[in-house]
Amino acid sequence: MKGPMPIAGVMGWPARQSLSPRLHGFWLKEHGIDGAFVPLPTRPEDLSTALRGLRVAGFRGVNVTVPHKEAAFALADRLDPVARAAGAVNLLVFRGGGMEGFNTDVFGLAASLAETLGDAALRGKPAVLLGAGGAARAAVLALDSLSVNEIRILNRHRGRGEALAAALAPVAKAKLSAAGLEGWSKAAGDAALVVNATSAGMKDTPSLDLDLETLPKDAAVCDIVYNPLETDLLKRAKCAGLRTIDGLGMLMHQAVPSFAAFFGLTPKVTPALRVELEKALADG
Ligand SMILES: NC(=O)c1ccc[n+]([C@@H]2O[C@H](COP(=O)([O-])OP(=O)(O)OC[C@H]3O[C@@H](n4cnc5c(N)ncnc54)[C@H](OP(=O)(O)O)[C@@H]3O)[C@@H](O)[C@H]2O)c1
Repeated sequence: MKGPMPIAGVMGWPARQSLSPRLHGFWLKEHGIDGAFVPLPTRPEDLSTALRGLRVAGFRGVNVTVPHKEAAFALADRLDPVARAAGAVNLLVFRGGGMEGFNTDVFGLAASLAETLGDAALRGKPAVLLGAGGAARAAVLALDSLSVNEIRILNRHRGRGEALAAALAPVAKAKLSAAGLEGWSKAAGDAALVVNATSAGMKDTPSLDLDLETLPKDAAVCDIVYNPLETDLLKRAKCAGLRTIDGLGMLMHQAVPSFAAFFGLTPKVTPALRVELEKALADG
C-alpha cells in the first residue's frame, strides 16, 4: 500500500477492553500490512472533537461501539441505506473531506447465521428475537435479509419492542410483532431460530430463564453476547439438543467490511482467527 501507514481504531466508553484491536491486528499480520488499529477510549462529550482530530491526524476511519453508535449516526455526513434503516453507525470512513457512516452489525449477524445454518435455512420461517435495543434493531434487519417470514420481538419492556416493530415495519419484508417476555411459549412453538440480542447473559448477569423445550427440536439458538462465549442460554440449548451459534461469529464478520474500508483488502473469517479471539477472551 502506498502513502502514509494506514491507521484506524475503535472508539468506545467506558474504556473496557475491546476485541477489535486484536481482531484487526491478526489480519494486519496475516496479510503483512504495515498498518495499525488502536483502541481509542472516548467520552461521549468528546466524540465530535475526537473525530475531527483523528481525521486531521490522517486516520482512515474508526469503528464506534457502546455508547457512540447513535451519536455517530447523527455526526455522519453521508449514510449507507443499512445504517439509515438501523438508526445507528458502527463504522465511520473518513473520505473526501467527510465521514461516511455504515452499519456492519447487520451484515455481521446475517453472515454468521448463514455460515452456520446455510444461506437459505431460514427462508420463509419464523424467528424469535429477544431484545429491543440497538443490537436488536440490527438483528431485525439481519433476519429480514435472510428472508425469514416473521420476526417475533420479545422484550422485557414491551413498549420498547412495539416501538422497534413499528419503526422497522415500513422497511422489513417480514411480518414484525412485539410482546413481553411472557409471550415466549406462544412465540417459540414453531420458531426456526431464537436470537438473544439482550445484554442478559453477559458476565455476571444471569441469562433469560426461558423454557427451551418449547422450541422445535430442529431449531437453532444464537446468543450475540460473546463474553462469556458460552452463555447459560447456549449451554441449556446444547443440553436440549438444539444447534447453537455464539456471538463471536457476528463480531468477526462485522469486522470484515471495516477492515476492507481501512486497509483495502477483504479478509477472511477463519478458524485461526476464532482461536486468537478465544485466547483473548480467556486472557480477560
Ligand atoms: N456479537 C456482537 O458482535 C455484538 C454486537 C453488538 C452488540 N452485542 C451485544 O448485544 C447486547 C445488547 O447490546 P445493545 O447495544 O442492544 O444494548 P441496549 O441497547 O442497552 O439494549 C439492551 C437490551 O437488553 C435488554 N435487557 C437488559 N438486561 C435485561 C435483563 N436482565 N432481562 C431482560 N432483558 C434485559 C433490554 O431490555 P429493556 O428494553 O426492557 O430494558 C434491551 O432490550 C450486549 O450484550 C452487546 O455486547 C454483540
